[in-house]
Amino acid sequence: MKLILLMLSLLLAPVAVTACEGDCIVDITNEYLSRYQNVLLTTFQNLESRRENPIVYFAPVLTAYNLTAYNSLEKAIFPGYFHGKCQDANGVNPPGCPNPDCPKVCGTPGSMVHFYPTLIKIVFDETTSLLANLTAPGSKPYNHIQQTIMADVDKGQKKRMENLSRIMPLRSRAAIQGKSTHSIQQGLKKIMKELRPTMLETCGGSNLSFCSWEQPMKEFILQYP
Ligand SMILES: *[C@@H]1O[C@H](CO)[C@@H](O)[C@H](O)[C@H]1NC(C)=O
Ligand SMILES: *[C@@H]1O[C@H](CO)[C@@H](O)[C@H](O)[C@H]1NC(C)=O
Ligand SMILES: *[C@@H]1O[C@H](CO)[C@@H](O)[C@H](O)[C@H]1NC(C)=O
Ligand SMILES: *[C@@H]1O[C@H](CO)[C@@H](O)[C@H](O)[C@H]1NC(C)=O
Repeated sequence: MKLILLMLSLLLAPVAVTACEGDCIVDITNEYLSRYQNVLLTTFQNLESRRENPIVYFAPVLTAYNLTAYNSLEKAIFPGYFHGKCQDANGVNPPGCPNPDCPKVCGTPGSMVHFYPTLIKIVFDETTSLLANLTAPGSKPYNHIQQTIMADVDKGQKKRMENLSRIMPLRSRAAIQGKSTHSIQQGLKKIMKELRPTMLETCGGSNLSFCSWEQPMKEFILQYP
């Protein structure tokens, strides 16, 4: 029975190479997202190793990233670069297509493997671009992180201030607090600017060797017809 179904599906399938559609698109996008989880955590850890628990501070970024990453990555790969079917509106393949090197990059699993270095660059660039947006000063996650850090610093400072308050006038106390608010804001902006370079380092430099997963990902992609 299984064999008959398989033969039927082969008969019904288009003769030419199939495009990456449906499950193929969803699964490949999810596979990269899942492989990037550890890269994100390592990047946050390396960014801010001076703080005791950077992951706690970066939680708002991860939450926002989890909500938006799928759509943004899928769009960047399909159809941002890989175009599913190569055919034009009349169902005609452009000359030289759907071979891997046809002028319009088709979305076949074969062409994704052929253009693999481009594919991993797209994934890296899209991920860092999304993170840059989510950590830009004024963005929601950024404000959330800043508030948390200020509250933590405030707690520590209040304790020290209690002792100081006996000998220090109120005005000087306000000045110290204002200064530290400013330096926290500057410091946080600086840290966020380091996000892309730190992630590039985590990924093994410009050839992205640690964020390539070349062998397993090529096998994964080629499981689709
Ligand atoms: C984001 O998603 C990953 C994978 O599904 C999960 O392990 C992680 O806990 C999520 N993080 C947040 C902050 O929601
Ligand atoms: C980041 O923001 C810019 C400007 O708003 C936008 O063009 C770009 O698509 C965003 N990138 C991602 C990955 O969301
Ligand atoms: C405040 O002063 C007390 C006693 O003078 C000292 O034990 C305590 O450690 C001080 N607290 C801080 C946060 O400096
Ligand atoms: C990637 O770059 C690193 C250092 O920049 C180098 O050591 C490594 O050999 C390169 N890997 C490949 C596959 O080119």
